[in-house]
Amino acid sequence: MKKQDEQMIWVQAVSYEDLAINTGKTIRYQGEEVALFRMKSGKLQAIQNRCPHKEGVLAEGIVCDDHIFCPMHDRKIHLPSGLVQAPDTGCVKTYSTKIEDGMVYIGFPTAEEMAS
Ligand code: FES
Repeated sequence: MKKQDEQMIWVQAVSYEDLAINTGKTIRYQGEEVALFRMKSGKLQAIQNRCPHKEGVLAEGIVCDDHIFCPMHDRKIHLPSGLVQAPDTGCVKTYSTKIEDGMVYIGFPTAEEMAS
């Protein structure tokens, strides 16, 4: 199910209750792959699912506080910002999330928003 506002297309991903704490879930939408996490605090984080180093699947990584460790070579990525932590460099896309009626939605920028 999709909903659209001016800048986002909100794609229904999964039931909030079905998300295990600190365990990634892969969500796919029109060629994009997102790693969705329900943090211990209850907050949601959504980032691009592929590590900028060699495309490790971040949904399979280890969550520690606000970071995910890539399962391939252990690079540490800050979930809220998507920034790879020093001494490594790089970043992954982050996505907005929201919960409505117990369902988690991920916000994808509209084509117009991506072009601006
Ligand atoms: S692929 Fe993620 S650290 Fe190498």
